[in-house]
Amino acid sequence: MSRLRDLECPVVGAPMAGGVSTPSLVAAVSEAGGLGMLAAGYRTPEQLAADIADTEDRTRLPFGVNLFVPHRLDRAGLEPAVTAYREALLAVAEPLGVAPGEPVWGDTDHWADKVALVEAWAPPVVSCTFGVPEPEVVARWKSVGCEVHVTATSAAEALAAEAAGADVLILQGREAGAHRGTHDPQAAPEPIDHLGLLAGVAPGTDLPLVAAGGITTAGDVRRARDAGATAVQVGTALLLTPESGASPTYRAALRDPGLTERVVTRAFSGRPAGAGRNGFVDSFDAIAPPAFPVIDQLTKPVRAAAARSGDVHGIHIWAGVGWRACREVPAADVVRALADS
Ligand SMILES: Cc1cc2nc3c(=O)[nH]c(=O)nc-3n(C[C@H](O)[C@H](O)[C@H](O)COP(=O)(O)O)c2cc1C
Repeated sequence: MSRLRDLECPVVGAPMAGGVSTPSLVAAVSEAGGLGMLAAGYRTPEQLAADIADTEDRTRLPFGVNLFVPHRLDRAGLEPAVTAYREALLAVAEPLGVAPGEPVWGDTDHWADKVALVEAWAPPVVSCTFGVPEPEVVARWKSVGCEVHVTATSAAEALAAEAAGADVLILQGREAGAHRGTHDPQAAPEPIDHLGLLAGVAPGTDLPLVAAGGITTAGDVRRARDAGATAVQVGTALLLTPESGASPTYRAALRDPGLTERVVTRAFSGRPAGAGRNGFVDSFDAIAPPAFPVIDQLTKPVRAAAARSGDVHGIHIWAGVGWRACREVPAADVVRALADS
C-alpha cells in the first residue's frame, strides 16, 4: 500500500532543483495535505543535509527527496561540440561581466554520497529522475523503509523502472516544465502527454502511478485519476507561490506578455527541458550538444548574471504548458485547489 494513499490531497509538490523547492515550499505542500519533495540535484551532500534539517524544523509531516541518476558521458565524442558551445557562449557572457563555467566530466552531483545519505536518513519517499537506479540501490533504500518512486517518460522506461524494483512510477508527459526525465540523455523524448502515458502503462502494471505534466486545475487532477493515476505531481503551478525560490527575474518572465511560446530545448543544460522561448533559446538551441550536466555547468554563471541583471532573455524560464495559469497565492492554496474535486 503506497504512502500516496495516506495523503489528504493526492498532490506531490514536484522537486524543483536549482533553488526553487525551498524547505519552506516543501513544508508548505506537506502541511497542506500533499507530499513535499526536496530536490537534491545540484546540491552537495552537506547542503542537502542542511535542507533536510531546515525542512524538518518547519514540519513534522512526511516529505521526500529526489535525486538525479547520473550517466557516464562520451567525453571524446562530445568534447568538440562542448568547446564550440563554450566559445559561442562567450559573446553572451562577456557583456554580463562573467566567464562561462568550465566543463567537468565526472559525476559532479555526488550520487554515491547522496545514495548513502538517503539510506541513513530513511525518508518515507525517495524519487529519481533521468534514469533507473541500480536494483541494488533500490533494495538498499527499500530495506530502510523508503518508498522508491522512479520517473518514466515512455512505456519502455516504465517497464525498466518496475524491473529495477520501483514502488511507484511517475509518468511525466511532454507538457512538463523543466527537464524531461528521459533515461537516455542522447535520445529525443517521446512526445506523449501524461494521459497517453497513463493509457499505455496503467493496464500493464499494479504499481501506483503519479501523473505529471501541465496539471494546473482540479479538472486535470480528476482526469488523471480517472485514467489510473493515484496522485499527480505539479511543478509549474507552484512557481509563483511566495514559498517558491524562483528568482525575481524568473517570476517576471513567467508573467511577461512578450514571451508567448514554450519549447522543449537542450539550450541551457544539454538535456531537453520545457521552457519559455527567449533570446537564449534562439541563440543556443541549435548548437547545444546532449552533454548534461556539462552544458549546465558552462551556462550556470551566465544565467545567474542575467538573473541578477533582470534580463528575461538570458535565463532559463523552466515552464510546463500550464505556465500562464501560475498564480501568486500561497502553496497551500494551490494544493487545496487541485484536490478540490
Ligand atoms: C523549475 C522546475 C524544476 C524541476 N526540477 C526537477 C527535479 O529536480 N527533479 C525532478 O524529478 N523533476 C523536476 N522537475 C519536473 C517535475 O518533477 C515535474 O515533472 C513537472 O514539474 C511536471 O510538469 P508541470 O511543471 O507542468 O507541473 C522540475 C520542474 C520545474 C518546473
